[in-house]
Amino acid sequence: MTNCTITNLRINYRNNPVGTDDAKPRISWQIDTEARGFVQSAYQIQVADRSDFESEIIWDSKKTDSDKNVHIEYAGPVLKSHTRYYFRVRIWDSKGDQSEWSEPGHWETAFMFADEWQAYWITAPVQNDDLENEACDYIRSEVSLSQDIVSAKVYATSLGMYRLYINGIPADDTLFNPGYTSYKNRLQYQTYDVTSLMNSGSNAIGCILGNGWYKGYLAWEGENSHYGNTRALMIQMHVTLADGSEQVFISNDRWKVSTGPILMSEIYHGETYDARLEVEGWSSPDFDDQHWESAVVIKAPVSALVAQENEPARIIETLKPVAVITTPNGDTVLDMGQNMVGFVEFTVCAEVGTSITLQHAEVLDRDGNFYTGNLRSAKQTVTYICKGNGKETFHPNLSFQGFRYVKVTGVPEDQLLEQFLGCVIHSDLEKTGSFRCSDELVNQLQHNILWGQKGNFLDVPTDCPQRDERLGWTGDAQVFIRTAAFNMNVVPFFEKWLKDLAADQEEDGRVPHVIPDVPVAGYGSSAWGDAAVICPWTLYQCYADTRVLETQYPSMRAWVEYIRAQGENEYLWNTGFHFGDWLGLDAKENSYIGATPKDLIATAFYAYSTELLAKTAAVIGKEADADKYTFLHKNIVDAFRQEFVTPNGRVASPTQTAYVLTLMFDLMEEQDRLRTAKMLAEHIEENGVHLTTGFVGTPYLCLVLSRFGYTDLAYQLVLQKEYPSWLYSVIQGATTIWEHWDGIKQDGTFWSDDMNSYNHYAYGAVGDWFYRVVSGIDLIEPGYKKIRIQPHMGDQFSWAEASFESVYGTISTAWNKQDDGTVKLDVVIPANTSAEVILPASSMDSILEGEKSLSQTSGLLKVEQSGSEQLLLLGSGNYSFTLTNK
Ligand code: BGC
Repeated sequence: MTNCTITNLRINYRNNPVGTDDAKPRISWQIDTEARGFVQSAYQIQVADRSDFESEIIWDSKKTDSDKNVHIEYAGPVLKSHTRYYFRVRIWDSKGDQSEWSEPGHWETAFMFADEWQAYWITAPVQNDDLENEACDYIRSEVSLSQDIVSAKVYATSLGMYRLYINGIPADDTLFNPGYTSYKNRLQYQTYDVTSLMNSGSNAIGCILGNGWYKGYLAWEGENSHYGNTRALMIQMHVTLADGSEQVFISNDRWKVSTGPILMSEIYHGETYDARLEVEGWSSPDFDDQHWESAVVIKAPVSALVAQENEPARIIETLKPVAVITTPNGDTVLDMGQNMVGFVEFTVCAEVGTSITLQHAEVLDRDGNFYTGNLRSAKQTVTYICKGNGKETFHPNLSFQGFRYVKVTGVPEDQLLEQFLGCVIHSDLEKTGSFRCSDELVNQLQHNILWGQKGNFLDVPTDCPQRDERLGWTGDAQVFIRTAAFNMNVVPFFEKWLKDLAADQEEDGRVPHVIPDVPVAGYGSSAWGDAAVICPWTLYQCYADTRVLETQYPSMRAWVEYIRAQGENEYLWNTGFHFGDWLGLDAKENSYIGATPKDLIATAFYAYSTELLAKTAAVIGKEADADKYTFLHKNIVDAFRQEFVTPNGRVASPTQTAYVLTLMFDLMEEQDRLRTAKMLAEHIEENGVHLTTGFVGTPYLCLVLSRFGYTDLAYQLVLQKEYPSWLYSVIQGATTIWEHWDGIKQDGTFWSDDMNSYNHYAYGAVGDWFYRVVSGIDLIEPGYKKIRIQPHMGDQFSWAEASFESVYGTISTAWNKQDDGTVKLDVVIPANTSAEVILPASSMDSILEGEKSLSQTSGLLKVEQSGSEQLLLLGSGNYSFTLTNK
């Protein structure tokens, strides 16, 4: 028996998921062991319909020689719908010793075939045409059961946003279902296990249905109904009774519809709720719904229904207000202490008819007054009218706000601090990363990056969560995804979004600027559309997920072919609309677009996407395409040099972003690179150690500096406190990342109202450099199967620590400079992986591990000297190094 435990069994990244429609779910596990250098040599997976595995085994992989322990596809008989499958795993180590079986995991299927849906789409008989103030629908039905129940599942979806109730209780804690997808192509349904909410006898199903993304206001032109103007609901309930029989209940024209207290609910504008209109017992059994109208059946409006793919949104944490402020203008304002996304829940005692309003804003102005200018047309206003008998508690149902400050009217001041709670809502992604160091301002910056991610990972990756956008801007997602993939497991979240990207791509391969597409936004900009290629590739790199490459390949290829078809020169991209180095500081007066030529940026990204496409083709076995796109890439690089690099090897447009892209994407001749990096460094220094980059250059800036030996300058840039810099906003009190380097200027005034978000994750992309360079956790092989550990212990920090939950388990580093000049470095490498650890030490003798010399270190496979560094090849395990500097 080998000494390890098989843990953390996953199906498609999740523990025990309920409601999947994947015909070949992928199985992963982790190996928990104290042993160093642990390698798996074989595995066995069994799938059964009982957790004790006493019944017939549905699929047995048999002992399979392989070191793979992530993403192994189920390869048994066709999976049945509405079925729970159990699985267990055992492995063999490198000596051939076998482990115990793992504890069983399980997954549960939803509809494996679309034609199994029996339910009808239903809607209210009369559609409200007062779109300004459209009340939500309340929809109900009853089911009567003659026996005890063994299990009850509800499958539900809607056109519009819904919340499901069973017998008066919310069916679960998820919010904003069915989520935001390319509605005309793909609509998610949710699975609810409602067994514990149901009884034998009468039961009621209730549903609140509002506009959501489907019918509500979206984008900046004040328009709604982008995807349709009829809200509708579809529900199917499967109940297994004590005698083993199954009953199915479906939405149909016998369901009843009415309105209730929600008079208006919009994502941008907030919610209006008149508690006097509450209908007692509407979602409970035996309610008299005679006066409600009958629902109307409509034709299926979508081409594909898919089981929920990403993690649902829910309230993840709550914040109490830190202060109640009376502004110079006399407003009463709550300060949540954190720019957050979600809503406020409050409890009040007030007379019937008292109107309470909550307006939400991100910042106060220079004088300390409540400021909503940057919200543009988004009202972010919640109005609650009290019913007036004792305590009443409320939060919006189908709307969310982005805010730190809440202006409250109608509530006595003494009820404010105690009775108000900020509910932080985002997609419930698993937190996988942490980074801390000896500089508190940098720790606040990391906090701000994380909060930018929380606030903007709400079902889709959004640019911002407050003004009249909150859309899946492709460029923003592309620049931030690598950092995001450290902080949280982003695969299911992005897999869903990328399928929508592919669905919304036109025949010619163009990619809309925002996904899901809102036609007013446009399409086809370089660095934005490249999300089609960069995002799947990043997921593959960080999680070894080849399925995302296979699924996205046609979309990736179509994007590259779209570019190729633009303009007259197939190797340059010098036509069409581009955002350029968006918000670059070298922009001309009154322009949002930085000085780096757009065609340079477009061609650079064309080269990069083509290179990634060629690599992707090779990974998924499309050899001919791999050759074709390698050749195309070479030609693009040649054309780039001819067009944008002088014959003597200088970048013709000497901007920081031009240098950064040219170096990052390897677009120069090898021999010109060091000199170009030097020019970049000089440019930064001549600017007083300041950046001038925008959305396109900033994410790679520090990485490029470090790659070419300018880590010290990268540290200086990151620690720069003067505008423009990352720490400038931190010093101004930011708790999230700003859209503009000078969202609040030094004199306290704002960047103009028209585009000024205080919660925009793009510049948070520097987080990647913290993990990869400061803490030195990087990958050599996809998924961190082989890791590079190379901390850059800059003079500016005395310690730094980071940890990252890879698909194989925890990787971490923690370095700490001691008073005696030695450095302690703790490293954790997960089982079944290995690491190249590169340490600044002139000889092997100046490194101790656990107080012993390296020659006595178990798990050490090899040491090599490379200049002033030692390169250690290590197997898995926990290591404690001391660098003695001898
Ligand atoms: C958004 C962005 C986006 C940009 C396009 C803005 O309004 O907030 O972050 O990428 O438009 O340039």
